[in-house]
Amino acid sequence: MPTLGIETSCDDSGVAIYDEARGIVAEALASQTDIHQPFGGVVPELASRDHIRKLAPLLQSVLDDADMTLEDLTGIAYTAGPGLPGALMVGAAFGRSLAQALHIPSIGVHHMEGHLLAPFLSDAQPQFPFLALLVSGGHTQIVHVQSIGRYKILGDTLDDAVGEAFDKVARMLGLGFPGGPAISRLAINGNADTFKLPRPMTDRPGLDLSFSGLKTAVRQLVAESSPLDDRTAADIAASFEQAIVDTLHIKVSRALKETRMKELVVAGGVSANRRLRHQFETKLDAKVHFPAPHLCTDNGAMIAFAGHHRLAQGFTEPLGIKTRPRWPLEALVDQV
Ligand code: KG4
Ligand code: ZN
Repeated sequence: MPTLGIETSCDDSGVAIYDEARGIVAEALASQTDIHQPFGGVVPELASRDHIRKLAPLLQSVLDDADMTLEDLTGIAYTAGPGLPGALMVGAAFGRSLAQALHIPSIGVHHMEGHLLAPFLSDAQPQFPFLALLVSGGHTQIVHVQSIGRYKILGDTLDDAVGEAFDKVARMLGLGFPGGPAISRLAINGNADTFKLPRPMTDRPGLDLSFSGLKTAVRQLVAESSPLDDRTAADIAASFEQAIVDTLHIKVSRALKETRMKELVVAGGVSANRRLRHQFETKLDAKVHFPAPHLCTDNGAMIAFAGHHRLAQGFTEPLGIKTRPRWPLEALVDQV
């Protein structure tokens, strides 16, 4: 039962084929980093235009790699939200129309559910119920996961998402886009103890998070250190990265304690961060599951996998093509 997955919610065009018996059969990704780099962030119109150029060639390439034809596909999953409206519409129109032409069902997938389920594509699978920390460019959430489709948000960011904070601090330090990997690379040579940065909201009860104060503290530090030498830039990057990891660590420990959960999934682009992975793996009182490194950031495989489960549950989309640029994860409860 091979399901095609299509991801176009932001600046990566991802296409993959998932089969229950064989796992991920083939996957392909086209990154738009070079297109958005000169602008220091994602330009939505340019993102949509590039998804249109890339989808058909990517589809052909995964079919070739899998030694399959279109007729072998039994279902199509595409990211229906949340994300950039135009970019979502490209993937949804492509996926829904292809499904109609092939007379097979299609399903619109919630992008964050895709991220959340990505660790299931690894060998050691999480056991329900578990706690999830979703950390991407647009989301920072602590989620109670009862089963596929049953999600309760326990904590959320009040302002910036973690990935967004990485991207903004990277800009302050004159680094490229996307900022997360750039900060991480610079931080390797830095000393995380050099600068004392805040661990926001950790002295208050509750599981909500906030990163704007930390961002402001880094901005001040950068201004005071101007002109910035390489050593200081690396120390700021390391101190900032450590402040983020500590803050997430403190809140997640609290959530594990309150919910008495013993398993944790960490997913979304920031889950690729080495410092975060190391600290969570070694210092948390829980079994921690991460996606494989290449499945942390946006990809078609996680959408194929999540869509496969939705289709297996009997859900399909009607012919009218619908996207949901804003789509709360908890709203998925209604579908089950
Ligand atoms: O999940 P994702 O690919 O797209 C969204 O759904 O937003 O996440 C992208 C975010 C970006 O903000 C990027 O800077 C961040 O994930 N990111 C990282 C790392 N790799 C990607 N942040 C920290 N460390 C990394 N290694
Ligand atoms: Zn994402």
